Amino acid sequence: MTQHLADLARHAVDAPARDTRTGAAAEPAGKPRGWWRDAVIYQVYPRSFADSNGDGMGDLPGIRSRLPYLRDLGVDAVWLSPFYASPQADAGYDVADYRAIDPMFGTLHDADALIRDAHGLGLRVIVDLVPNHSSDQHEWFKRALREGPGSPLRERYHFRPGKGEDGELPPNDWESIFGGPAWTRTENPDGTPGDWYLHLFAPEQPDFNWENPAVADEFRSILRFWLDMGVDGFRIDVAHGLVKEAGLPDMGSHDQLKLLGNDVLPFFDQDGVHEIYRTWRRILDEYPGQRIAVAEAWTPTVARTANYVRADELHQAFNFQYLNTPWDAAELRRVIDLSLDAMRPVDAPTTWVLSNHDVVRHVTRLAAEGADAEAAQRRGRAASLLMLALPGSAYVYQGEELGLPEVTDLPDEVRQDPAFFRAAGQDGFRDGCRVPLPWSGSEAPYGFGPEGASSWLPQPAEWAALSVEAQTGDPASTLELYRSALAIRREHPALGAGDSVTWLDGLPEGVLAFRRDAADGSFVCTVNLAAEPVRIPAPGRLLLASGDAPLLDGEILLPTDSAVWWAV
Ligand code: NOJ
Repeated sequence: MTQHLADLARHAVDAPARDTRTGAAAEPAGKPRGWWRDAVIYQVYPRSFADSNGDGMGDLPGIRSRLPYLRDLGVDAVWLSPFYASPQADAGYDVADYRAIDPMFGTLHDADALIRDAHGLGLRVIVDLVPNHSSDQHEWFKRALREGPGSPLRERYHFRPGKGEDGELPPNDWESIFGGPAWTRTENPDGTPGDWYLHLFAPEQPDFNWENPAVADEFRSILRFWLDMGVDGFRIDVAHGLVKEAGLPDMGSHDQLKLLGNDVLPFFDQDGVHEIYRTWRRILDEYPGQRIAVAEAWTPTVARTANYVRADELHQAFNFQYLNTPWDAAELRRVIDLSLDAMRPVDAPTTWVLSNHDVVRHVTRLAAEGADAEAAQRRGRAASLLMLALPGSAYVYQGEELGLPEVTDLPDEVRQDPAFFRAAGQDGFRDGCRVPLPWSGSEAPYGFGPEGASSWLPQPAEWAALSVEAQTGDPASTLELYRSALAIRREHPALGAGDSVTWLDGLPEGVLAFRRDAADGSFVCTVNLAAEPVRIPAPGRLLLASGDAPLLDGEILLPTDSAVWWAV
């Protein structure tokens, strides 16, 4: 849908004052309601959020102590990356016991207290579920190795004899996402070389065999364990990977990483995964209070992503197509339309995400080549306002509300990302977006932990100026921009849930503008992605701007890389 911006500006003087609304987002009559349809979900990366005991690692009591900050920020829910018992070969995405908390993060009692406190503050809690693989220190895998070929525990993973005369070659040509072959050879209990096992990620992360009923049973039980603890939902790690094509056929390509997310692969986005999510949905629906699940599903198209959120499957899926879209007006408009169009037929909310613990922080990723820190911030803030204005649910990664940039100069000796050590794999290493948060003070660890304590990754000196304390109360800060944006998003009837936008045309090239309508008020977002400032008619009453945007005689001067929200 399109409309002309000038038509809107003509009526701007008559625009009604902003209506306030309380409770859930306005949705067209007749649509099923659900808190997740407009939720802003804040990702906490437990190692890097807040360290209560000074060991340099964030923990559950630390998170608990900072929950009021998240309530005041204005988010609806918190997604916690894994905190389970784990040898931490992949920062906790290698789970040894799905029902236990790793001692470095705390205890089950801490988890229970955190969930209760969050609920007391009106925040929902989503935990990470890692069903594609376990840790090699999981009891099942240890027994499978110990008991040797023929052990029934081996059926719960993918063990296969090798190829070649002595089984010295991997069973097929699949490559690990972290680089190198996706197979590791075992040693038999008598010390001779044995079968191989499959790991799409690190060798310490053996893939489960989801054809085995014991695996499915176990995960249904794990879901119930956490639902009984009171969690509001799950983020499903590698949701697209659980089912492998029968016979584990060769890929026949030696540049497999390029195919990830671009094709249905024998190990990714197989149709069989959907039956698993149908059984999970039935479990979620048994519980009161709208428990949800969100898929981390890398698929070739948004249409295939929509399969994960059909009415009887999961509730949301991350929109990685949006995350991967460059800062380009035409491209963004195309992907926004594509995303909304894909979700509409399945009546699932579109989600929007710019940053997470696996990608370069968006302030840095979207920056123009050679941009200085200030220019990068400006663009990052404009991108944030654009994202938060779109219909559906939005994900905010811890620290993005502070405008944290990627840390690009971590010394090799402090890095922990397994991808770094298998360097043939991913091109972007992930420690730079995982550096612990700065909360206060002028010296590291900037309130992340007690004074004088260290942090598992060093924080840059410039982060003193980006701490929560430094930004609080400064109306020009990114933190206050997020606080204002989230408050307006909560109150404005046309923001939050929805499944379409009306594009406003008649604007200079490089300017994006769209309108959203509700029965009791409309909203416009204007974003200038062009290299020059533009002067455009003010379409309504200015609500929020990502930077200086002077209004004069019914027109606004929109600087490069700025976004403005309007009530219409
Ligand atoms: C996706 C997670 O976000 C990432 O951090 C992890 O390394 C892989 N899945 C494997 O679990």
